[in-house]
Amino acid sequence: PERTLVLVKPDGVARNLTGEILTRIERKGYRIVGLALRTADPDLLAAHYAEHVGKPFYQPLVDFMLSGPIVAAVVEGHRAIEGFRSLAGATDPTVALPGTIRGDYGRDWGLKVQQNLVHGSDSADSAAREIALWFPA
Ligand code: GTP
Ligand code: MG
Repeated sequence: PERTLVLVKPDGVARNLTGEILTRIERKGYRIVGLALRTADPDLLAAHYAEHVGKPFYQPLVDFMLSGPIVAAVVEGHRAIEGFRSLAGATDPTVALPGTIRGDYGRDWGLKVQQNLVHGSDSADSAAREIALWFPA
């Protein structure tokens, strides 16, 4: 079965939403096969967000991702990459549909970076790369 990397970002952990988010993943029928509480560092984030290096929101995004602990999970199931992105909802939490994680719990806090609670890999290649970064063992 397919694997994807899910992050509960610092806003999700700080707001005590980790359990709720993991529950939604499990309720959908996916299996959590790896789980870790991690504090990121700039090198890890530069690799994780390689596609965004140099964009105007990159430094605020990194500062946000360094602002507190992150819960990293490897989630497994048939079409789990696409399925988790569907559970997460649109990147902008203001317009993410109700029923999604971002739609139900996120909003625009008026900050320079989208604090949108979760990350999910966007392709099989990204998933393999990101799982290796966050679970190096
Ligand atoms: P992830 O699952 O976190 O990767 O979200 P995504 O795939 O929906 O978004 P993307 O990979 O394009 O961007 C990564 C993260 O950068 C987003 O989750 C946001 O936190 C932030 N971000 C992306 N686009 C913008 C933008 O246009 N403005 C701002 N301020 N932040 C952005
Ligand atoms: Mg992305």
